[in-house]
Amino acid sequence: MAANDKNKVTILKLRRHKREGTKTVLTTAYDYPQARITDGAGVDCILVGDSLGMTTLGYKTTIPVTMDDMIRHSEAVSRGATNAFLIGDMPYMSYQVSNEEAIYNAGRFVRAGMDCVKVEGAMIERIKAIASAGIMVMSHLGLTPHTRAKLGGYRVQGKTAKQAEIILNQALALQDAGCSFLLLEGMPRESAEIIANKLTIPVYGIGAGDKVDGQLVIFHDLMGLFWEFKSKFVKRYCEAGQIMQNALKTYAEEVRSGNFPAEENFYAIKEEELEKLLGGGNWKHDIIYETDQGFPTNHSVTPNTVSKKN
Ligand code: KIV
Repeated sequence: MAANDKNKVTILKLRRHKREGTKTVLTTAYDYPQARITDGAGVDCILVGDSLGMTTLGYKTTIPVTMDDMIRHSEAVSRGATNAFLIGDMPYMSYQVSNEEAIYNAGRFVRAGMDCVKVEGAMIERIKAIASAGIMVMSHLGLTPHTRAKLGGYRVQGKTAKQAEIILNQALALQDAGCSFLLLEGMPRESAEIIANKLTIPVYGIGAGDKVDGQLVIFHDLMGLFWEFKSKFVKRYCEAGQIMQNALKTYAEEVRSGNFPAEENFYAIKEEELEKLLGGGNWKHDIIYETDQGFPTNHSVTPNTVSKKN
């Protein structure tokens, strides 16, 4: 971060949001254009989620996503986002094996331009290790995709008092271990609210109701770019996939009908060069005007292709 970059979202701003009751806005981005779009819209935090396995790489789950995939996409996002707080999602088996591997992989995210890493589950020892290496961590509880088999599938968590209490105790232990943020996924709003109120760190939700400190929704779900399924908590704000497909149909029609490319899309060639090219034939074409720098300003060189050849 540049020393004078006063618009950069930092942990201090995110903590202030919590104190003042300002909702924090989070979404995902996986590449440079998505980072430009989300950052430009003033989103507070961008998660480079391992959901890119499904949204971008076409896998059925996040499990096949590797550290190398995540780093490539994190670098692209960090080149496109100037203000948002950036969170790199640690993929399956990048933090489970040992504290050393977890710290090493978290460090790769920081080198790739991330401000923080996200780790699924109540990984108390890992959070302590990463945080004590000076790297901010977001913990992720509730519906945790890496352990979905253990949860019996993608199921809403914290639906009973007992389950909600377990998650609350895990959240408090993670906060004590040094995590800076918590993300709750797939929980009833009342259970999530209790956790958000008991914790001093910011607690965000994805499908966890409206009483948490901020909302995360995946970019492709917001934009209508993911078609495999639509979760109950998702609201689509546009049908970008449909808009893009209609645009491509128009493009295809124009190419096939000869309406594209048109005159304004052609590059010019100087008259004398064209003369040389055509060998002084009877071709008719417009005059090219040059700017002071000698660049052509008129892109309308149009050989009269119906004229007689020598
Ligand atoms: O990868 C991701 O985008 C996530 C969210 C579903 C929380 O982890």
